[in-house]
Amino acid sequence: MAEKRIVVMISGSGSNLQAIIDAIAGGHINGRIAAVLSNKAGVFGLERAEKAGIPQIVIDHKGFEDRESFDAAMIEAMDAYQPDLIVMAGFMRILSAKFIQHYQGRMLNIHPSLLPKYKGLNTHQRAIEAGDKQHGCTVHFVTEELDGGPLAIQAPIDILADDTADSLQQRVHSAEHKIYPLAVEWFCADRLQHTASGQVQLDDSILPSEGYQFIQE
Ligand code: GRF
Repeated sequence: MAEKRIVVMISGSGSNLQAIIDAIAGGHINGRIAAVLSNKAGVFGLERAEKAGIPQIVIDHKGFEDRESFDAAMIEAMDAYQPDLIVMAGFMRILSAKFIQHYQGRMLNIHPSLLPKYKGLNTHQRAIEAGDKQHGCTVHFVTEELDGGPLAIQAPIDILADDTADSLQQRVHSAEHKIYPLAVEWFCADRLQHTASGQVQLDDSILPSEGYQFIQE
C-alpha cells in the first residue's frame, strides 16, 4: 500500500502535530507529513515542523478580502503536495463549504469535548459548569456543519471533584495525543473511512454514532 501524504493545518502550538510526527517517527503510520500549513506566522507548531524537516506554508487570512479567496489560496498551496489526508490540529478558522467539499472524506479534526456535546469554544469550563461526570475529546471527519461531522474516535475522561478548566484541559490534551495519531494510523492503513452514506467505517464495521470508544487505563 502506498504511503499516504498528509497535510496538517495548525494555528498554534501544534502539540497534536507533534504527537503525529512522533507516531510517524515511531513507525506506526503508513504516511508522511508532506507539509504543515499555518494561518499565523511565528507559531510554535511551525518550529516543530521545521525541526522535523517538514515544509511549512504560511497563509495569513488577514491578507485576503474574504473567506472564499483565503480558502482558495490554501487549496492551491496544499494541493501542490497532493494530499491524501488533511489533518486539522488546532486550526482556528472556519472553512467555507467549497473548501470542505474539496477535501470531503479525507479531512479529520480533533475537538476537545465528547461531541455532539460542547461544539465551539471553552468546552472544559462548560462541562464543569454543567456538572458533567465525564468530558473528553473526539476525532471526527469534517463536514460543513461546524464540529458536526461523523465521529471516528472518542476518549472519555472522568471529571474530578477538584478539577479546574486548566487541570481538565491538561488531561484531555494528553488523551488527544493518543487518539489523533491512532485515527491517522487507521486512515493511512485504509482501515478508517468516511462512507458515501456519511457514516464512519472501521475495518468491516460501521461505527456507532459516538465513534470508537478509546478507554484509557
Ligand atoms: C486542541 O485542544 C484541539 O482539540 C483543538 O485545538 C487544540 C490544539 O492544540 N482543536 P495543539 O495546537 O495541538 O497543542
